[in-house]
Amino acid sequence: MAECACNCGEDELTKQLDKIIDPYRGQPGGLIQVLTKSQELIGYLPKWVQVRIAEGLGVSLQEVYGVVTFYAFFSLIPRGRHKLSVCAGTACYVKGMKTLIKSLRDVIGVKPGQTTPDSRFTLEIVRCIGACGLAPAMIVDGKDVHGRIEPEQIPEILEQYA
Ligand code: FES
Repeated sequence: MAECACNCGEDELTKQLDKIIDPYRGQPGGLIQVLTKSQELIGYLPKWVQVRIAEGLGVSLQEVYGVVTFYAFFSLIPRGRHKLSVCAGTACYVKGMKTLIKSLRDVIGVKPGQTTPDSRFTLEIVRCIGACGLAPAMIVDGKDVHGRIEPEQIPEILEQYA
């Protein structure tokens, strides 16, 4: 089992998960809602969580896994407190997205798709975020757009996200 971000014990985590499942018990139609709330609680959806959800809702583990892997929103691996999403759209690609990724890797020490050991950042590559005029661009936590990023600006940008 995984540890909760709030450092509660596994039993407590399971109790909280069951509270999410309970209103949907035996109702396969609640799968997406339960997965969403479970990921909010735990940060990702490891196998033991999928098994508990499958049993609670009365669906197969394969069905749960199929939904988790179909939607990019769901994650099978632990995510950091802050999500760094670097745009790989055409404008950003042309304007130095590769250099931006390399610089971020140098600073935080992980590759796209990975999370830093201190769970502070998850680095990922996304498609156009609608800020092409600011290429190369990155969006943090799905809301803060940083544009025309020069490698030397990266430490200062990341300092904003404890
Ligand atoms: S291509 Fe990067 S924001 Fe559009």
